[in-house]
Amino acid sequence: MRVIITENYEEMSKRAAKIIAEQIKRKPNSVLGLATGSTPLGTYKELIRMHREEGLDFSKVVTFNLDEYYGLAPTHPQSYHYFMFENLFNHININPRNVHIPDGLAKDIKAFCENYEEEIRRAGGIDLQLLGIGRDGHIAFNEPGSPLMGRTTIIALAEETIKDNARFFKSEAEVPRLAITMGCGTIMEARKIILLANGEGKADAIAATVEGPITSQITASILQMHPNAIIIVDEAAAMKLRRKDYYRHVNRLLEEQGL
Ligand code: F6R
Repeated sequence: MRVIITENYEEMSKRAAKIIAEQIKRKPNSVLGLATGSTPLGTYKELIRMHREEGLDFSKVVTFNLDEYYGLAPTHPQSYHYFMFENLFNHININPRNVHIPDGLAKDIKAFCENYEEEIRRAGGIDLQLLGIGRDGHIAFNEPGSPLMGRTTIIALAEETIKDNARFFKSEAEVPRLAITMGCGTIMEARKIILLANGEGKADAIAATVEGPITSQITASILQMHPNAIIIVDEAAAMKLRRKDYYRHVNRLLEEQGL
């Protein structure tokens, strides 16, 4: 696990966007795994800027989103479908046919989830997966206790997540209680993973993810097993890491080698 500590949110976002842009330039038909929430907004803004000002080309890029609230139509303003078009897809030259987001209205959930996995496989697997992290250590919507080898499935949101996400809805009561999410096993098959976190509120989750034991109580901790995972955090989210100096030292040496 490589840990990159940035001064602030803006620098975190730019680092992530740069890695994504390099991936797309190296392989124009890259398969990207994408996240929603507040954390990746700056990264998406920077990717939009790169598209507009530097001609970053998304025409062959294929995307798979991590999750969607169950029960929300794609047109619902709080759906992750709506979020992705509003904050990224409407502003870049992606082919909408290459966009995949779990269907919040799927009737046969089991068949839908199996098919989502199959579509990822048919696309050749995910080259680069972008992740945020919940305060309870979840990745995608794999709440504490979710299987660390799990596949795409329907899950019940934890109380903490419902409270955290209420800020996007008129009231807490409106937050859907269920979601369709890629499993940790699905995520772990991505060839490269970037996890972003900013702000003090994520400091405990980041410390547990990076320096705690691997446990289904902090599903992000499974990333310790991934050969190519990069954790990019701002100073506030890095606050509780004990080995900060070492991570800085590693990055200095790797950057000197252009890595
Ligand atoms: C969103 C997702 C979630 C969020 C996490 C953090 O697609 O999979 O795991 O990344 O809940 O959300 P924010 O960024 O809003 O703090």
